[in-house]
Amino acid sequence: MKKIVLTGDRPTGNLHLGHYVGSLKKRVEMQKDYMTYIIIADFQALTDYFDQPSIIFENVYALVYDYLSCGIDPNLSKIFIQSHVGALLELSMYFMNIVSLARVQRNPTVKAELASKKMKNDVHCGFVFYPVSQAADITAFKADFVPVGVDQAPMIEQTNEIVRNFNRIYVNSPLKECKMILSDTSKLLGIDGKAKASKSLDNCIFLNDASSVVRQKVFNMYTDPDHIKISDPGRVEGNIVFHYLDVFYENKEHLLQLKTDYAKGGLGDIFLKELLFKVLEEILFPIREKRREIQIEDVKNIICEGNKAAKTVADQTLHEVKEAMRLNY
Ligand code: TRP
Repeated sequence: MKKIVLTGDRPTGNLHLGHYVGSLKKRVEMQKDYMTYIIIADFQALTDYFDQPSIIFENVYALVYDYLSCGIDPNLSKIFIQSHVGALLELSMYFMNIVSLARVQRNPTVKAELASKKMKNDVHCGFVFYPVSQAADITAFKADFVPVGVDQAPMIEQTNEIVRNFNRIYVNSPLKECKMILSDTSKLLGIDGKAKASKSLDNCIFLNDASSVVRQKVFNMYTDPDHIKISDPGRVEGNIVFHYLDVFYENKEHLLQLKTDYAKGGLGDIFLKELLFKVLEEILFPIREKRREIQIEDVKNIICEGNKAAKTVADQTLHEVKEAMRLNY
């Protein structure tokens, strides 16, 4: 039997290059060898956008377009919607009895998000509860592997902790621990060089950005403010153009030479930015071309098929969980 991969995203915006290097590329590779399920986590998105559901509605489709244009193949990966698989909610409800409030509040990802939202005791139950719902997503599919960005590592750790606690209590439990697959380059900095690339900071290059937009973003990138004349020695450390070249440019030998030349003086920012633009376009052009071929009807069918497949698997696990919990009256 093929091993199982479960992964996903919240439908809160188009995906960007940070997602591409952080987990998408890995997912596209893994789908060839593993049975892959991709969850569009709309419950989780509701924790932020409960009062603006149309944002989630639009981004569910945007996300599927992003997946398909990057090479997610619906024949290999099942894409489904979290809120369409009721078993996930039911499982989450059971798990809530083995997770303390203190434990979810200690989860570093939750902690960081709480801090950024400036929430304390006024935090909604739905929000603190989301690591538990993520544990349900993963365990319902008996996932072997979960490819995610580093920021999600605490979620996967918490999932495995829930599995261990559950299995200690219920001997016939069907739940299994999973292994997270972290990408080497899952922390792409934003084009402003200040923080991680993220939609909310408006500092990223989106996978659906037009070529002219990408060019503009690259040319606005911060380099070294003291590098005024081409002949001036330039700073490589902290130079965001070099950070992007480190992540995306495969000719490492040439890159090393460029760094040496830049540090010595004599290599201009324009040259580097032209190179980076070319390197990024080599990735983004095929994605853009593929996106143009996708029809909305196909997207809807893919989701419908994905939901059906996901429901079958999650219902079965739920059935086994209820058996183990003696809820089989
Ligand atoms: N928490 C993930 C995010 O914010 C989305 C997600 C929900 C997920 N369920 C998952 C990721 C299960 C991996 C596995 O992007």
